[in-house]
Amino acid sequence: MALAEFLQQLDDLAAAADHAFAAAGDPETLEAARVEFLGAKQGRLKSVQKQLGRVPKEDKRAAGMRFNEVKAAVENAFQDRAQQLQSQGPQQAAGPQFDPTLPGTPLSLGRLHPITQTIEELKDIMGRLGFSVAEGPEIEDERHNFEALNIPREHPARDPLDNFYIHGGSGFPPLLLRSQTSTVQIRVMENTPPPVRIISLGRVYRPDTADATHYPMFHQMEGLLVDRHVTLADLKSVLRLFAASYLGGDVHIRFRPSFFPFTEPSVEVDFHWNDQWIEFGGAGMVDPNVLRAVGYDPEQVVGFAFGLGVERLCMRRHGVTDIREFYKNDVRFLHQF
Ligand code: PHE
Repeated sequence: MALAEFLQQLDDLAAAADHAFAAAGDPETLEAARVEFLGAKQGRLKSVQKQLGRVPKEDKRAAGMRFNEVKAAVENAFQDRAQQLQSQGPQQAAGPQFDPTLPGTPLSLGRLHPITQTIEELKDIMGRLGFSVAEGPEIEDERHNFEALNIPREHPARDPLDNFYIHGGSGFPPLLLRSQTSTVQIRVMENTPPPVRIISLGRVYRPDTADATHYPMFHQMEGLLVDRHVTLADLKSVLRLFAASYLGGDVHIRFRPSFFPFTEPSVEVDFHWNDQWIEFGGAGMVDPNVLRAVGYDPEQVVGFAFGLGVERLCMRRHGVTDIREFYKNDVRFLHQF
């Protein structure tokens, strides 16, 4: 074999090795290329080395030197590429890749019903004024809904047309869906000695035809405070602080004389808001008959009570003009809260 031919083989081999190493994108491919070119038994460099014996004697020295140069160069090229791949770390898998700049898939979150949100906020405000939360049943007996609240048997408030009575069964006294949260006043005082400072929030039921301001079920917030020296001025302060917290700092409050069997004196509670006086509920000083009915001594303790409409508060605050919206369960409405 002529020297020129041998050298040409060496050059071709070096170029092929460079190409194969550069094209190897991962350690496994690179190792395969190493075995192909530098393999000790069947490597392509090895088989070129075997041709060395066929080069004419006088050219052997030159051919051997060139062979050693190329072998070192191929070995170096392999080492360099191996190092490069190691510092790059594992290659990313082929196929569609994760693009962190794309917007994610939106999760649609549920939310609390606006009335539930309102109730939570009212509890929070009244909690800061020192009132704890009490609960009572929605199905009541006549004692808690009427009698102990000083509403005698012949009182028109007990009319079947104004209440949802439930047959207690023959021989049992009738029950009813409570028409007011004042029932909870009685339940709390029956079970706790004074002083008492509670609110109760919950559903009440009245057979009203549904319209923009009426619904046969709605919510009230009842408040009750009983202690030694309590006056109507305390009631007004508490309600004014409450209104300022819930509706905003510029709320004024007004009491108008009224009548409830369980308070004396009794008042209607109006808040002045957005240039309007709006009635939010009733209040008054707990009637001595009520205190007596639960075993309190009206000579020792006095109290005030109030009952506010929760829907009405929520409607004013959010500009809702029809109470029926709360109970249609239209998500386009509910999503706004
Ligand atoms: N229970 C009365 C109502 O439903 C409101 C009220 C509560 C009035 C407490 C006075 C005291 O209209």
